[in-house]
Amino acid sequence: MSKPTFKKIVCAYSGGLDTSVMVPWLRENHGAEIICYTGDLGQGEDLSGIKQKALNTGAIHSVVDDLQARFVSEFIWPAVKAGAVYEGQYPLHTALGRPLLAQRLVEVALEHGADAIAHGCTGKGNDQVRFEVTSKALAPELGIVAPLREWELLTREAEVDYAVERGIPIPITREKPYSIDKNLWGCAIECGEMENLWAEPPADAWQMTKDPSHAPKGSVELVMSFEQGIPVAIDGRAMDGVTLITYLNDLAGTFGVGRIDMVENRVVGLKSREVYEAPAATLIHMAHTELERITLDRATFNYKRKVSQDFANIIYDGVWFGPLRDALQAFIDHTQLPVTGDVRIRVSAGLARITGRRSPYSLYDEGLATYSHGDTFDRAAAKGFIDLYALSYQTVAQVRRNTEAAIPELQNIGEES
Ligand code: ARG
Repeated sequence: MSKPTFKKIVCAYSGGLDTSVMVPWLRENHGAEIICYTGDLGQGEDLSGIKQKALNTGAIHSVVDDLQARFVSEFIWPAVKAGAVYEGQYPLHTALGRPLLAQRLVEVALEHGADAIAHGCTGKGNDQVRFEVTSKALAPELGIVAPLREWELLTREAEVDYAVERGIPIPITREKPYSIDKNLWGCAIECGEMENLWAEPPADAWQMTKDPSHAPKGSVELVMSFEQGIPVAIDGRAMDGVTLITYLNDLAGTFGVGRIDMVENRVVGLKSREVYEAPAATLIHMAHTELERITLDRATFNYKRKVSQDFANIIYDGVWFGPLRDALQAFIDHTQLPVTGDVRIRVSAGLARITGRRSPYSLYDEGLATYSHGDTFDRAAAKGFIDLYALSYQTVAQVRRNTEAAIPELQNIGEES
């Protein structure tokens, strides 16, 4: 079966070697005109020359967007409100960026009458899933091309030769030993050495955080203020989302806070060792959960913890634009109505600790909680409560005793052997 050809393809373009080679490869193999798309998610790279670079590789057009504000308001804040952290550790920065980039690829494709999108993800990772599921969910009629899954250019040298043969300028960068995916919400670092689970990440792998042993002496304290689950100010200074996250990345990064070294379960079935840095995300999730501890009632707080896990899986699994995310987000948004207030955090070398929390909607009642003067808790009511609360367990014990002869195994349950 011959592969489908396309007339016009919008290609996710970073300016790196893979995506630079993709442009001529797509033209040759699909006979298509190529539009390059680059989104700024706060990766901290200078994108000023990227349009020209894209045109020099043979694209007919280049679109470059600053997506940072949209990334924060439409993706990061919902993830914060949800408490979405994958497998207890990964704040999902890459996973949150993909649906937005894919959404923009689709929008640009439809605007320019293109019939396909293309991305530079490998065939082994989660990112291909996220790009393609998003595209299919938003515009099922668009074709999708993943050159890295198809082409024969299996080494860096082969890619360079391919470009040189065609007179395509290639990025002249020193060969980096690390594969880095960075945005405003964090950074993922991969390299051959770290595929050995026992090997410590090399000191120069870290991009956003200082080694905690080189952190400033002492500590700093900050107060993070939230409105309905969203951080809006630091130390009383109102900040927009991009500024606030950038500020916290710098501050916590200087103290070496937010380093994560984990083994995670990929969607495509394998386990992978991942090294992440997420200084701002670490502080924000920590403070947000703390505020929920005082503003949400027990049942909602605990129920929402289960929803957090499901929401994190939705993000990780690439199904952001599905009906379940919409439904869970409606639930989450409702829980966030009282999540307004301040959290105080002390940051020192490699460590962030909560030292205070307050909210006009706090459910904490000092009169009920105190063990000193002014206690308003009715101790006498505790006895009746426990009598009824324990009733079913008492009944079980009684019945087991009476049926011991008939079912002896039941009698041993819960006993040491
Ligand atoms: N394992 C993470 C994820 O699947 C990070 C992936 C990093 N991506 C990359 N292209 N380097 O979300």
